Amino acid sequence: MKIKSVQLKNFRNYEKLFVQFEEGLNVLVGKNAQGKTNLLESIFLCAIGKSPRTNKDKEMISFHQHLAKVTTTVENHGGKQNIEIFLFDYQKKAIKIGGLPILKMGELMGHLHAVYFSPEELKLVKDSPQERRRFLDISLSQFDKQYFYALSKYNQILSQRNELLKTKQNQIQDTIGIWNEQLAIVGAKIIQFRMDFVEKLSIKASQTQKYLTEEKENLVLSYSGLVGKTTKEIQEKLLKAYKESLEKDLQLGYTTIGPHRDDMKIMLNDIDVRYYGSQGQQRTVALALKLAELEIFKDQTGVYPVLLLDDVLSELDVQRREKLLQYVTRLQTILTCTEFEYTVPCTMFYIQNGKIEKREEQK
Ligand SMILES: Nc1ncnc2c1ncn2[C@@H]1O[C@H](COP(=O)(O)OP(=O)(O)OP(=O)(O)O)[C@@H](O)[C@H]1O
Ligand SMILES: [Mg+2]
Repeated sequence: MKIKSVQLKNFRNYEKLFVQFEEGLNVLVGKNAQGKTNLLESIFLCAIGKSPRTNKDKEMISFHQHLAKVTTTVENHGGKQNIEIFLFDYQKKAIKIGGLPILKMGELMGHLHAVYFSPEELKLVKDSPQERRRFLDISLSQFDKQYFYALSKYNQILSQRNELLKTKQNQIQDTIGIWNEQLAIVGAKIIQFRMDFVEKLSIKASQTQKYLTEEKENLVLSYSGLVGKTTKEIQEKLLKAYKESLEKDLQLGYTTIGPHRDDMKIMLNDIDVRYYGSQGQQRTVALALKLAELEIFKDQTGVYPVLLLDDVLSELDVQRREKLLQYVTRLQTILTCTEFEYTVPCTMFYIQNGKIEKREEQK
């Protein structure tokens, strides 16, 4: 998969921009606060319909403007397609694919596969389980629309159950059974998807971790939640758990168990990297997870997704940096940095104050 071009209008600090990307490594160089991250953000927006940095679409519209537009031209299996996203400050965003409006966000998934990595991604390893669930949810939604729809449905049922727990305690005995059952059915599907994914991810991430650290670090991932051998078994376990947790849930006013509370455990050389890993190890693990995601995409679809790397070089030691730069030349990568002094084949772009200038290719 390749991004041929990106066009921006009133997007963050870009009034107008048109840029054509090349195959392999594209390097965006610029001082701080010039628009490097903003450009990557606009691309990732076209992949998943959301910003990797904010939940408020409005923040992406340039100050004092009411409408922003991002258009990416994507090439896949020889065909070209435009993805257009319109952001408004007064209504929900609109999306067109190949010139046709889409009605559901799920329809966007799969048109542009992208993997995004920024220093913020350290959260994935260090922070609460929510970050790891978010990672699993975003990856799986891009892989499989069924997952995206199951997750939306689960969240919908969950908020209805929570509403009941909070405000309609007198009606609970009549209806809770139905909500529990529905939640267990969809929840089991989600857990099954995630378990299968974590298993694949563990194999790939362990390979990439070894590659980046010259065989020094052994990474193992596992899904932690109500797991089982079959989806049916998970469903039964979940149903039992929802029933048993009712008293506690009523006291707290929300559903305390289920896939929305699960986690992914990350062990590095037999220690829990979330608590005991060094900063550099945690960074490398976060990167290994993203590269593993990329490799799974490649195995499933036959093509690599686009890799978006924001400011990643400054975070790694020389050996890990060089390994990464060797790795990324095999696919289309857009990488940002404040300076770039490596002799790898790439196309350089200079960004200054929302303007971009393309330089000749470096062989
Ligand atoms: N909605 C907006 N409208 C106009 N400008 C914005 C908006 N949101 C952010 N900016 C500005 O865009 C500029 C560039 O931000 P960006 O995060 O892309 O910088 P960067 O080049 O990645 O810098 P760094 O190297 O520090 O990460 C910043 O000065 C920021 O204040
Ligand atoms: Mg930045």
